[in-house]
Amino acid sequence: MSVKPATKIIRSKDSKIQPKVGIILGSGLGSFAYRVKNQIIISYNDLPEFPDAGVDGHAGKLVIGTIHNTEVAILQGRAHYYEKGKSDVMKTPIQTLKELGCETLILTNAAGSLVPEIQPGSIMLLTDHINFTGVSPLFGETDSSRFVDMVNVYDPGLNQQFRDAADERGITLHEGVYIWFCGPSFETPSEIKAAKHLGADAVGMSTVPEVILARFFGLKISAVSIITNMAAGMNEVALSHDHTMENATKAAKDIHALLGEFLLKYETAF
Ligand code: HPA
Repeated sequence: MSVKPATKIIRSKDSKIQPKVGIILGSGLGSFAYRVKNQIIISYNDLPEFPDAGVDGHAGKLVIGTIHNTEVAILQGRAHYYEKGKSDVMKTPIQTLKELGCETLILTNAAGSLVPEIQPGSIMLLTDHINFTGVSPLFGETDSSRFVDMVNVYDPGLNQQFRDAADERGITLHEGVYIWFCGPSFETPSEIKAAKHLGADAVGMSTVPEVILARFFGLKISAVSIITNMAAGMNEVALSHDHTMENATKAAKDIHALLGEFLLKYETAF
C-alpha cells in the first residue's frame, strides 16, 4: 500500500511527528483535544480523502501533539455510515494514523444503555461488539488480509490500563458489549429487546466500522462509551440528538479524566 497523500501533508508540517496513540473523539467529547500541548491542527478539509465531519458536535480537525508526555494524534470528530452510506468513510484517517506511527487507537462514542445498572452519565468500556448490520468497511478489499481475526479486538492489556486509570481517579467504569445499528433513526423498542437477547449492553451508530478498519491496519484498540440515554423503550424519555449532546457534555469530565490518566501511564505501561 502506498503512503497516503494526507500522511505526506502532515509530515511536511513537522517531520519529527511520532504519535503513538491515536484517539477518535465522538459526540460532545471534542474539547479533550484542547489538552494537547505543542499542537499542530489541520482541518479535515485540507487532508485528501478525509471526510467532512457533518454532525453537530464533530469539529473535523486532526490535532497532533503531546498529552502527559505521550505523543497523540486526535481525530476530533468522525463521519458516520449513515451520512453517505459508506461504511469505510473513516478508512483514510485511520490508515493515516497508522502511517504516522500510531500503535494504538482509542475510540470514544455516545451510546444508549440496555441495562438498568448502566445509567445515563456513566462510562462503559467495550469488551466486545456485535455487528449484525450486514455491512463491513472491508467490502471491496481483495487480498486475504481482509479476513481479519476479531477475537480480543478490544485489547485486554489496554482495557486493563483503563480499569487501573479508572481506579486511580475514582471513576466507575462499567464494561459491556456494544451493538452497532446503522441509524440515523434511533432503534425501535423491539430492536432493543432483540439486541438485549443477543447479548448487547449498549447501542450506538459508530465505532464498529472504525474498529474493523483499525484491526485491518494492525492497530491495538480500546474503546469507551459515554452513556447518554437509556435505549429506546427502556424509559419514557424521547430520544434526540440534542439529548445525546447534552448528556455527553455532562459526562465528558469523567472521560477526560480517564483518558488523561490512561495517557499519563501509557509510556511506562507499553
Ligand atoms: N441509539 C443509537 N445511538 C445512540 C444512542 C441510542 O440510544 N444514544 C447515543 N447514540
